[in-house]
Amino acid sequence: MRFYWPILCLQFILSALSFRASLSSSSSSSSTSVPYLCSHTQSSALILFKTQFSINETASKDCEYPHIKSYPKTNSWKKGLDCCLWDGVTCDNITGQVIGLDLSCSWLSGTFPSNSRLFHLSHLQKLDLSFNDFSKSRISPSFGGFPSLTHLDLTSSWFSGPVPYEISYLSKLVSLYLSYRPILDIVSGIEAPGPTLKLETCTLNGIVRNLTKVREVYLDGIDMSSVDPNSFMNLSASLTSLSLGGCHLRGSFPDNLFNLPNIQSLTLDENPNLTGQFPKSNWTSPLEVLDASITSLSGELPESLGNLKSLRGLGLVGCNLWGPIPASLGNLSQLSFLFLSWNHFSGEIPSSVTNLTQLGLLVLASNQLEGPVPDNLNAFPNLGFVDLSHNLLSGRTPSWFYTNPTVLELGNNQFTGHIDEFQNRCLEILSLNNNSFRGPIPSSISQLVNLTILDLSSNELKGTISLDMFSELQNLQQLDLSSNALLLCSNNTVSYVLPNLQFVNLSSNILHEFPKFLLGSKKLESLDLHSNFIEGDLPISMSELVSLRFLCLSSNFIEGDLPVLPPNIRFLSVSNNSLSGKISDVCNAKSLEILDLSRNKLSGAIPQCIGSFSRSLTSLNLKMNKLHGTIPPTFAKGCALENLNLNSNHLEGPLTRSITNCKHLQVVDLGNNKINGTFPHWIHALPELQVLVLRSNKFQGPIHSPKSPRPLPKLRIVDLSHNNFFGPLPTSYIQNFKGMMNIVDDGKAATYMGERSYSYDYSVSMAFKGLEVELVKILTIFTSLDLSSNNFEGEIPRVIGELGSLIGLNLSHNNLCGRIPPSLRNLAQLEWLDLSSNKLGGQIPMELLDLTFLSSFNVSYNQLVGPIPQGRQFNTFENGSYLGNEGLCGVPLSRGCNNESQPEPWMKANKEEGSKLEFGWKVVAIGYGFGFVFGVGMGYVFLRTGKPKWFVTLFEARRRRR
Ligand SMILES: *[C@@H]1O[C@H](CO)[C@@H](O)[C@H](O)[C@H]1NC(C)=O
Ligand SMILES: *[C@@H]1O[C@H](CO)[C@@H](O)[C@H](O)[C@H]1NC(C)=O
Ligand SMILES: *[C@@H]1O[C@H](CO)[C@@H](O)[C@H](O)[C@H]1NC(C)=O
Ligand SMILES: *[C@@H]1O[C@H](CO)[C@@H](O)[C@H](O)[C@H]1NC(C)=O
Repeated sequence: MRFYWPILCLQFILSALSFRASLSSSSSSSSTSVPYLCSHTQSSALILFKTQFSINETASKDCEYPHIKSYPKTNSWKKGLDCCLWDGVTCDNITGQVIGLDLSCSWLSGTFPSNSRLFHLSHLQKLDLSFNDFSKSRISPSFGGFPSLTHLDLTSSWFSGPVPYEISYLSKLVSLYLSYRPILDIVSGIEAPGPTLKLETCTLNGIVRNLTKVREVYLDGIDMSSVDPNSFMNLSASLTSLSLGGCHLRGSFPDNLFNLPNIQSLTLDENPNLTGQFPKSNWTSPLEVLDASITSLSGELPESLGNLKSLRGLGLVGCNLWGPIPASLGNLSQLSFLFLSWNHFSGEIPSSVTNLTQLGLLVLASNQLEGPVPDNLNAFPNLGFVDLSHNLLSGRTPSWFYTNPTVLELGNNQFTGHIDEFQNRCLEILSLNNNSFRGPIPSSISQLVNLTILDLSSNELKGTISLDMFSELQNLQQLDLSSNALLLCSNNTVSYVLPNLQFVNLSSNILHEFPKFLLGSKKLESLDLHSNFIEGDLPISMSELVSLRFLCLSSNFIEGDLPVLPPNIRFLSVSNNSLSGKISDVCNAKSLEILDLSRNKLSGAIPQCIGSFSRSLTSLNLKMNKLHGTIPPTFAKGCALENLNLNSNHLEGPLTRSITNCKHLQVVDLGNNKINGTFPHWIHALPELQVLVLRSNKFQGPIHSPKSPRPLPKLRIVDLSHNNFFGPLPTSYIQNFKGMMNIVDDGKAATYMGERSYSYDYSVSMAFKGLEVELVKILTIFTSLDLSSNNFEGEIPRVIGELGSLIGLNLSHNNLCGRIPPSLRNLAQLEWLDLSSNKLGGQIPMELLDLTFLSSFNVSYNQLVGPIPQGRQFNTFENGSYLGNEGLCGVPLSRGCNNESQPEPWMKANKEEGSKLEFGWKVVAIGYGFGFVFGVGMGYVFLRTGKPKWFVTLFEARRRRR
């Protein structure tokens, strides 16, 4: 979401520039003293029109944002009075004909009749019905029946359906406004659905041909997906404004429109399928505002852009532009707003831009700009808002950063050197994150009393910082110093509060104590202190932070009991600390979504409520504690759990079947406990289950075929090892492990399992090539089956060869006999295969040479005989793979084979060797980026729940468009 704000902002600024003066031009009724100028037919037509609608303030709610006064104008319309005196009505002062009707923002609500009496007012010149709610009525063809009409305004009035051809009869029209732009809800990121008008090519052609006097055309939000953009080519040369934002335009935009002789404002934004290029040479026009953001305009920006001397605003966010930013930009002496973010611009920022004395906003974010930022003594005297983030800019910071802007976004570049002292006390937003700034935090920051956002995270800042230095920053909402090497001290006898703090991240620094001043910040929503050196107990009064939703304290040295949780907490991680005592009180935190108390010393039983206290709990991780007792017997209906990890505790007893109430379970890791009972056949009732780990427990008995076998469509990691299962291998389950068959690795970026809204990754313990490790993230294409160290007997079923996506297969330490099935050759992705310590006989099938990814192979301690396959990856396996099989012969064993039946053909058929070997590394290189996970997570939470001021400002800004 954060990436969208420049767009929102842009729309505001540019539309503010193109704001229409015409709005205020109507409404003044003529000041004649002659009574009853208005004829009876006209006044009765108006009264009838009025009665066709109800009055409902909601109908004009969009007027709030453009700050247009909204009130029911028709309330003043009374029979028996001169209609020329009515609010919104303008008459010709000689003939008494109604020539103007301005009912914008008049709370009119209801269907617009196609034979409305309004159409009897045939002398109308100006008709403004904007900002009402006509309930998706059609625009009546009768709108084309006003021969004198010069202004028609139906902006945001909830008409839908086709724009009638008859509109093209309005040959005197000077301005035509039919725009509707949906409103973006910044919190949800969803645009409110609006009405849809559609414009067909023939209607557009009629408009283009017949409206020869038209100067202003606003058609934003109208569906023009079937229109050929070339149709606009013959628009009247007197055109001054053309606005086609969000029109689903596709195809190539004719470049001569950029050269229209009178055009001042051209808006094409949000037409992602609109292609085209800017005029390569001789580009001249009186353009003042050009907004083509979020289109597919491509190519380089021509040098002749510098000819557009009147340009005040240029918005080209999210196009497909590349090459250098032309130096001629520095000639645009009127330029106030420049938005070029989300393109592929490269090279250095030309030094000529520092000449832009009028420039107020400079947004070049998310390009590939490099080198130092130009500097000179008098640069940018009016610059207020600067966003250069997500580029490759380097070197020391220019002096003007420290003097003028109130918003400075420089994150994700390669700036180096110290951060200088700020001269400008008005700074509101300072983001320098993800650079290579060194040295201390400048002391002048403590005087930037307007600061709302301070983000210095992920740099190389050092030194001792007293957190008291922020005590004067009463407006501060976000403080992020994470991932530096700062020694953070706090005076814990504090007497100040920072009342507006919402988001604090001090993770990955050197912090020894919980900073007490935070306890006074009643708006605090998100607090991340992970990977520090916090010792001792947590403050009891933490539970008074009623706004707190996200709290991450993992990887510290926190001791004592788990404190009473803040009542509205949603995310809590205290993993990897030294908490002791029992888990109590969590059941009051009814909004919890993620609870991670793993890697502590918590003891006692799991609270009984755990399966039912929170309808929103999706992840419960209590791994690696000292919990006793049984798994609580009740998981409530509607349980939302996706991830249940109780690995490495002392839990006992059988599993409760009520877990099947948790229909969304994806990961169940109960490994390394003392749970007994038989195999949980009810896993069939968990359609989402992907990972089942029962490793090292006391499960026992045979695994019978389920009575009515159902496919386990997603299950792909199964670890039943180190239990006491016996009997034949569970063939009917294996047949149903559909998730281990035919996973398509489409080469797209690998994804991980987890709770996306917090970027919280689910983890699982796995035995990998003989080593028990923790997969901090679980790749969604990772599959393995581990049935080792049980007492399974009988043969390896041939169907195991159908698990074509398996990466690891471990059947070792059982009592399996018979031969190794040649069907294993079909496990084309297999990287490790362990069949050791069984009673397998016969030869090692030569077919295994097909397993080109195999990097670990163990058949030791069986009763295998004959030659070891030679060639390919088998050349890499050592003695240990084959020990304890008296009958095996050939390399690497010293025992040679008598009748050397070397599998030469296999060796030679090896055309594609190594072709896809990287795949193996993808799995091995499963990420361990803890800091990253939480850094990202909180940003999201904050946006989802909090509303930093600047975001709201920009949000409102967009609605102000008009
Ligand atoms: C006004 O319109 C809103 C939205 O359409 C509707 O929910 C509400 O009931 C209406 N109020 C009246 C008094 O009709
Ligand atoms: C009548 O209107 C015309 C323009 O339409 C204006 O010039 C003139 O002053 C008006 N006369 C009176 C008496 O208002
Ligand atoms: C132009 O408008 C006139 C009415 O003003 C109409 O009769 C004529 O058909 C229109 N022509 C086109 C090409 O739409
Ligand atoms: C752009 O084109 C694609 C493919 O034709 C289509 O799926 C998509 O909806 C179009 N987008 C818009 C905004 O029209």
